Amino acid sequence: MKRYTVRDIQSRYKKAEKISCLSLYDACMAGFADEAGTDLLLVGDSLGMTVLGYETTVPVTMEDCLRHAGAVVRGSSRALVVGDLPFASYQASIELAMTNAARFLHEAGVQAVKLEGGKEMAPTVSSLVRIGIPVMGHIGILPQNVNVDGYRVKGRTSEGEKSLLEDALALQQAGAFAIVLEGVQQDAAARITAAVEVPTIGIGAGLECSGQIQVAHDILGLMDSVTPKHARVYTSLAPQIKDAFIAYTQDVRQSEFPGTENSFK
Ligand code: KIV
Repeated sequence: MKRYTVRDIQSRYKKAEKISCLSLYDACMAGFADEAGTDLLLVGDSLGMTVLGYETTVPVTMEDCLRHAGAVVRGSSRALVVGDLPFASYQASIELAMTNAARFLHEAGVQAVKLEGGKEMAPTVSSLVRIGIPVMGHIGILPQNVNVDGYRVKGRTSEGEKSLLEDALALQQAGAFAIVLEGVQQDAAARITAAVEVPTIGIGAGLECSGQIQVAHDILGLMDSVTPKHARVYTSLAPQIKDAFIAYTQDVRQSEFPGTENSFK
């Protein structure tokens, strides 16, 4: 099956078809999402919290992201795969951003990259697009900026909304093929979506965005300590997994496993 390109995402947007995106990190999950028909798979730096056990995305490195992005590419055949440039892999200079974004395409085989930031990142976005690397923007809550700004919802004041709109327009002008709106007041997100000519992909930004993205671990109920307000839990895997591990541990301790069907003659 032919893999989606950014043109396919844009064509869904032009037909006013909602764009479904998931952030996930391994070949197994990528295969499930691909079969489910998810349009875009982001290998998000949220892997720092969901998979690597960090408190924020800040410690995540290019090597972490490349390893997981390669797995998602190998596990899928249809969805567009986007690599998330981690903290400090692109902000210092356009050259650094070009080098690391190109590594995503060369070493992991993704089709596009995402980076956080608005107007200040526009020159970087246009340089990447110019050398053939499609870019997804990301404004609103910027998790890589947590040490400066925390996780405050954006767009609740008219100045806040104006600043977000300027960011979105600057990213569009720079050539971003889509823009993630994270933690943006829903009416502000709706107005920004109406004002731009590229798809907005919401996470905690209301129903009017052109598409939605969620972290797979959140909607699968794998993070049993916290469920973010923006996530709908479609299934609660954490208790099922724990029960399976408890049963296995008991079986081993009581010599109930392996059975004859699991043993070789
Ligand atoms: O890292 C991530 O998974 C993300 C999405 C939630 C947009 O940036």
